[in-house]
This record gives sequence, structure tokens and C-alpha cells, in this order.
Amino acid sequence: MVRAQFTFPRGFLWGTATAAHQVEGGNAASDWKAWEREPGRVLGAHTSSRACEWLQGRYIEDFDRAVADGHNALRLSVEWARIEPEPGRWDAAALQFYRAQLLALRERNITPMVTLCHFTQPLWFMERGGWETPACIQLFERYVQKVAAELGDLCTLWCTINEPNAYVFAAYVAGVFPPGRHNLLLAQQVHLNQLRAHAAAYYALHAARPDARVGWAQYLRGFVAARPGFPPDRWAANWQHQLFNMGWVNAVHSGRFRMLQRSVPVPECRGTCDWLGVNYYTRDLVAFDLRRPFELFGRRQYAPADVLSENGFIASHPAGLFRALEEMQAFGWPMFVTENGVEDAPDSMRPAYLLEHLRALWQAVCFNYPVHGYFHWSLVDNFEWERGWTQRFGLYALDVETQVRTPRRSAQLYAEICRANAISAETAQRYAAPLAGSMFPGSMLAG
Ligand code: FCB
Repeated sequence: MVRAQFTFPRGFLWGTATAAHQVEGGNAASDWKAWEREPGRVLGAHTSSRACEWLQGRYIEDFDRAVADGHNALRLSVEWARIEPEPGRWDAAALQFYRAQLLALRERNITPMVTLCHFTQPLWFMERGGWETPACIQLFERYVQKVAAELGDLCTLWCTINEPNAYVFAAYVAGVFPPGRHNLLLAQQVHLNQLRAHAAAYYALHAARPDARVGWAQYLRGFVAARPGFPPDRWAANWQHQLFNMGWVNAVHSGRFRMLQRSVPVPECRGTCDWLGVNYYTRDLVAFDLRRPFELFGRRQYAPADVLSENGFIASHPAGLFRALEEMQAFGWPMFVTENGVEDAPDSMRPAYLLEHLRALWQAVCFNYPVHGYFHWSLVDNFEWERGWTQRFGLYALDVETQVRTPRRSAQLYAEICRANAISAETAQRYAAPLAGSMFPGSMLAG
């Protein structure tokens, strides 16, 4: 019997990713909680409410699930609004709550990765202008210094800011996140201020903990010319790529931040990257369209050939993950896939999505690209921002009312991969038979 398998390097991190606001519940002092109360902001008027009840201690049972499923890492975030509910006032109970989480992970031999800002801010911070004013840099730095002092002994992998580009787009261009603006120039200013705040956080963490390894999670979306032979489409796709995907990456590499109208020196940002987090979900085809200046003259749509997720939010294009890692490895930073997954309540698409993306990841590893781990989004269904509870990304289904978690098949599939540190032909065949033939061609499937 031939048993083919794609094996990952020893010590590869396998886990899932979450964010505080999406799983904790009761996050009263944050801008998102206030946003949810405004009519029309969240689909179906859903609210995060008790979320996954991590605040009531349900993180324990979720960590038990992670460890039982063979995960050895977990990405979570700490909530600034909880830790500093008023300017300069630190909430000891909140810090204790996060210490307990990190201790619980360490007791289970699960490596934590902690995100310091995942889309949510204290209300007081936003009322003072949030990321729009340069004062944000020091305010964020002070918060990070506190977190480093209180939690730094329990964690080495720190993610300063989650998806700064997706945040800025959602909050300042599309207006679907607080503060709900539609202003490209302000969006760029916020992107720049956050970049400087990231650099300040990088140095604060290193000053507090010489062993800290600090990076950020970059949302990388594929942008491909709809008509590859048509130069305007190629131009539009490339412009979106440069502006949306590459702004921070180039700035941290070069020390210069390119905006639409000018380029700004940011020498303090140069090299503030011990590792780069890659969040990859999907890709767009981009067609040049003069009528869409606010979309940078590019009309985006999913490729007809790419399989669409339950609500059409994600088009599966695993080669895009390989391409993203290939492009990023040129910068020479160690990398993690800090998010990847699909909304799929019936779990009809997720097994193949997971297997194909992990195969793409394995290919990147085989090219010696320095990828050291993978965090699936997410362990348990959670509150999906302006999409509320309509999208289900969990390996475990959540009944929001009863808080009962039920494993989807993909939980078991992922567990087999994590435990084996490999994807075997046999596993692929059991969970996605039609795909297994192309993943493991010919006799590799025999037996
Ligand atoms: C990412 C976010 C994360 C989650 C997933 C589905 O962009 O970082 O919080 O909502 O999308």
C-alpha cells in the first residue's frame, strides 16, 4: 500500500485564530459595542451580545477542544477597551482575565500569539480622534507598555495590529466599521498613523521583553486582471494591489510610506517586523472602469471558476495563498499564515477549501519560504462584524442561545492534519474524495 503524504517541518505551529470582541461578549467600553446599537449597522440587527461567552470562562472549554484536536498554537486578542476603560486607568480584573487565558494555554502546551488591536478601540480613544490624530501613537504605545509589563512573561509572539489595511478600508472607505467614514485621504492618514503606532509598539515590546517576537497580520487579497491581455485591467489590478496590499509592507521594508498624493519618510518603521502575518481568504478579478474612481477605477468580481462560499463572501482560490507567500518571502521575514478560512455553516465547502489551501501552504514550505505556522479562522463560530451571525467560520458550530458547540467534519479533518503534522492521501480521500485524486495523482492513492 502506498501512503503518500505532504509533511510539514518539525515544530510547525497549527492553530486557530480569534479576536476578543468576536468571542468574549459584553465588551461595553468599545467603539464596536456602541456601533452595534446603531440601527442598520449590523445585518439582521445582530449584536455580539454574549458572543462565545469567553468572558464567562468558556475559553477553557474551547482551549480543551483545541488541545484535544492536536493544535499546538492559538491566536487571540486582548481588548484595549477592557484593559484601559478610561484614559490611563488600568483594569486589574481585565489584565487578570488575560493572564488566566495565557496560563490556560501554556498549561495545555499551546503557544499563544496575542494581537493587541483587532478592529476595536476604546470609546474614549475614538472620541479623542482615534487613529486620525498623531496622538494615537503615544496612547497605543502606553497601552502596549502596560500589556507587555503585565502579560509579557506569558507570551513571545505579538501581533501589533490586525489587518490595518482591511480596517482602514472598512472604517474609512466603505464606512461599515466605526467611525463609518467615506474619505480616502483620511483613510491614508489613519493608515500612516497606525503604521507609526505599530512601530512604537514594536519598540515598546522589545524594550520590555528582549525575547518578544513582534509582527502584524496583513490582509492580502488577490487582485488579478480580469482580461490579462488588456493593459488597463492590469494597471487597475496592480494599483489595487499596491495601494491595498503593499502599503505597510513596503513601508516597513523601505522606511517610506507611499500615499496617493505623496510619499512620506517613516524611518522609525523600517525593520519593525520579526515576522509577517499573512491573512489570506480570497481573490478578485479586476476590470478597468472609469466610472469607479472610489474603487480606484477597478471593478472587482469573483472569477466564475472559483467556488463561492455559502453567502458569496469568499471565492476559493488556493493558488492565491501560494502567490501571496511567494511575494512576501522576498522581504526575507519569517511568516505565519495568521488567518485563512471560509464561511460555510453546512461544512460542504470547508473540507476542500482547507485541504487545498494547506496544500498550497505545503508547496510554499517546499520552496523553502520561511512559513512557520498556520492559524485557521476560526475554532468556533463567532460574531462576524457587520455581517453579524450570518457567517459561520467555525470548525465548531455554535448555537448562540445555548452556547453548545458542535464539531463540524472539518474539525476532525483539521485535527488529523495537526496531529500528523502532515496531509495524508488517506485523509484527503476520506474528507474530499473528488479532490484527493488531483492532490495525490495516480498510484499515490492506492491501498
Ligand atoms: C478577517 C478578520 C477576522 C474575521 C475574518 C473572517 O478579515 O480579521 O476578524 O472577521 O476576517
